[in-house]
Amino acid sequence: MSNIKKVIVNKNTNLTPIWIMRQAGRYLPEFREIRKKNTDFIKLCLNEKLSAEITLQPLKRFDLDAAIIFSDILMLPYGLNQNVEFKKNFGPLLGELDLKEISKLEEEDFVKKVNPVYKAINLINNSHLTNNKNIIGFVGAPWTLLVYMINKQSPKLELRNDFFSDDLLIKKILEILEKFLKIHIKHQINSGAEIIQIFDSWAGLLEEKDLPKFIYNPTLSLVEFTKSLNVPVICFPRGIKDYKNYCEFVKPDAICIDYEINPIKIEKEIKIPVQGGLDPKVLLTDKENLKKEAKKYLDIFKDHPYIFNLGHGVLPETDPSMMDYLVKMVKDY
Ligand code: CP3
Repeated sequence: MSNIKKVIVNKNTNLTPIWIMRQAGRYLPEFREIRKKNTDFIKLCLNEKLSAEITLQPLKRFDLDAAIIFSDILMLPYGLNQNVEFKKNFGPLLGELDLKEISKLEEEDFVKKVNPVYKAINLINNSHLTNNKNIIGFVGAPWTLLVYMINKQSPKLELRNDFFSDDLLIKKILEILEKFLKIHIKHQINSGAEIIQIFDSWAGLLEEKDLPKFIYNPTLSLVEFTKSLNVPVICFPRGIKDYKNYCEFVKPDAICIDYEINPIKIEKEIKIPVQGGLDPKVLLTDKENLKKEAKKYLDIFKDHPYIFNLGHGVLPETDPSMMDYLVKMVKDY
């Protein structure tokens, strides 16, 4: 069994596997090299050979325990025929949302559009670089995708005033998302994904009273679906204040924590395996400080099933030698 599954499935506390969110990305010169020649980000995600190559880049450098498929959570609205672009120094920009159009969409149409993602997973699965490592597939949570689909861009600090104005529209989109997210999860698994992570990057924008409707119930449905396929599922509700409540409602196999939550509180309150937490900005400091901060998480979770990761994606300004230091330090601890 792979190290990550030993932690998630067997609740092993003798080893600390490590992988890093956004481990394939702009902090790596070999990624920037490919990106320079491929200015359209969506097209790059739809090039299965390049997508597989980028996924494997960090595995060539570092002794990581997993490969996470190089793709994006916004491939889902793209597959639903909503226009998605990534503008330089701005981030994602989505087009008009045509509810009639996306209500008519069939599984076949969606799968045809995003099929290179599945082909890339297959290629990664066949590479010697992923022997004894897990391939992680992922989706955005229904709430976070709803935010992008309605807001059309990253919400930064708060939602638009009229975000909740059309209740029926929101209800319909959530239903459609649930259906196609299950399809996307199923196809990633059939192509070789062995673990699924659900990213809910904007979980922190909601008030407590809205959590059941927008987060708990729709995410629980995806978690139950993934479990029914015998695949472990990790949830990352970034910025959620009450991780304990979240775990009780959503019941993921492991919980990924952000860097703002106190890890000591998490260790005490949460019984399931934990992942992540370290502030990505620590990798911008020096090795001594990195060691001290990483050690904090390793010590707090020494008797708790724990997968090392950051509390959000690795920053583009990160020096790859800091990543190298971190991976070796965690492996040797
Ligand atoms: O973790 C990995 O290495 C796998 C690949 C991955 C990407 N995006 C590649 C990417 C994953 C898992 C994601 C998830 C994702 N995408 C999330 C959830 C995690 C999080 O960060 O909160 C979100 C919210 C998105 C949407 C998204 N994609 C944004 C807001 C941006 C622009 C901001 C940015 O960092 O540039 C992206 C673009 C993106 N997705 C890049 C990468 C490597 C950068 C593209 C580039 O080279 O310009």
